Amino acid sequence: MASSLIVRNATIVDGSGGPGFSGDLAVTDARITAVGTIPASSDGPNTVTIDAGGACLSPGFVDVHTHDDRALLRHPGMEFKLSQGCTSLVIGNCGFSAAPAAVGRTDPSGLIGVEPTWTDLDGFRAAVEAVRPSVNSMALIGHNSIRTLVMGEERRAPTVTELDTMRRHVEAAMGQGACGFSTGLIYRPGRWSQTDEVIELARAAAGGGGLYATHMRNEGDRLLTAVDEAIHIGRTAGLPVQISHHKSAGRRNWGRIGASLAKIDAANAEGADITLDVYPYTAGSGPMAQYFDVDNVDPELAEVIRFASCPAIPEYEGRMAVDLAVEEGVSAAAIIEKVLRSPKGDRTVCIQFIIDEADVEENLRHPLVMVGSDGIPDLKGRPHPRLFGTFPKVLAHYVRHRHVLSLEEAVRRMTSLSCDRFGFVDRGRVGEGQFADLVLFDPAAITDTATYDDPKQEATGISLVVVNGQIALRDGTHTGAGAGRFLHHNR
Ligand code: ZN
Ligand code: CU
Repeated sequence: MASSLIVRNATIVDGSGGPGFSGDLAVTDARITAVGTIPASSDGPNTVTIDAGGACLSPGFVDVHTHDDRALLRHPGMEFKLSQGCTSLVIGNCGFSAAPAAVGRTDPSGLIGVEPTWTDLDGFRAAVEAVRPSVNSMALIGHNSIRTLVMGEERRAPTVTELDTMRRHVEAAMGQGACGFSTGLIYRPGRWSQTDEVIELARAAAGGGGLYATHMRNEGDRLLTAVDEAIHIGRTAGLPVQISHHKSAGRRNWGRIGASLAKIDAANAEGADITLDVYPYTAGSGPMAQYFDVDNVDPELAEVIRFASCPAIPEYEGRMAVDLAVEEGVSAAAIIEKVLRSPKGDRTVCIQFIIDEADVEENLRHPLVMVGSDGIPDLKGRPHPRLFGTFPKVLAHYVRHRHVLSLEEAVRRMTSLSCDRFGFVDRGRVGEGQFADLVLFDPAAITDTATYDDPKQEATGISLVVVNGQIALRDGTHTGAGAGRFLHHNR
């Protein structure tokens, strides 16, 4: 059978972490059928052939930390992901997942914001498949979403019956292909849960072979205690742990990432199974109502807030609360309070400058740290630039300019490590028989162009993105191939 796509004259960085090598690659339908020297006789009349001109051909990048559940339905072209070379995503992070749900009842807790026409993961999968998204996805099942569905906003432990209902939601999702269970223990309602509740639900995910992905209870003053809790949950429930967007937040806590990584290394040496992810920026972002008590706004946090989406006062988008405070002759905390008390104030997405650059580099130096954007796909305001820039930024800034890690190692941490960890089968490597999820980029030129002021900018230096053997992006043009698949864990 003739190949459908042949890329010649590439430097293949295959995702294993081994050195890049010169070669060609052939694809037939969805899979890679040959790597090495592909003779001209392999070209059929319908073969698309591309001369890479020596550029880097690597497995498509895997964004292990996304909040794209809704975006898959709203923006199935997923241009902000494809343009970074991303071909697969993990959705349902930080405890917020589109499934399970009650039909017509929007999850009020912050990050999903879509009106469900489904109740379970199979139903959500069918809705996503119907719009033919351009990238692959794999789902985590979220604690906050389950708890809201079963208990509303109750600030107490679940009854035996409620816990049992929540457990059955986790089991059902695992049976329908979820790759694990996620928590967001700083957020409502997860913050009202005790460790025991999380362990019980994580156990249900362990039974299905999944992992436990956690936005920990604390990422600032009590970071190390929160790491202990995550280690304890993994050990007691008997499943691997993914620590999401590892950071040490707040100026007085800067420089503590080393201590946190040392704790994780020590636990792993004693038989724990912990990995992590990080986004390559010094600011976080999320639903503002989740970070502040409106009756007692934290003045220190208010000082480092910038507005991303602010439907209550759109003129605030792209502005720092401190600058608005000077203009209006009030405190930054008063600005935050005013927004939160406005109609639609609960729909504000903010950006928080809370992370130390040296801590970002220390994370990226660690061999168990993957890359996850944590992008919030609200395209109306001025989103955090990580939504468009994460993967190119690692390659441009941390590999090319700062030499924090090698190109091959960076690619490994964006591909094979991620796929092995989250149960993407036959993905994450360039090799015969693997799915043809590919990105072709110039390592000397790739550049993230998204900035805080102008965040919705596609990266440059990526010339080709292939998803399941179909060309999804070529020389700046999105083809609309819609070849992404909603994958089952370990299948
Ligand atoms: Zn999070
Ligand atoms: Cu997140």
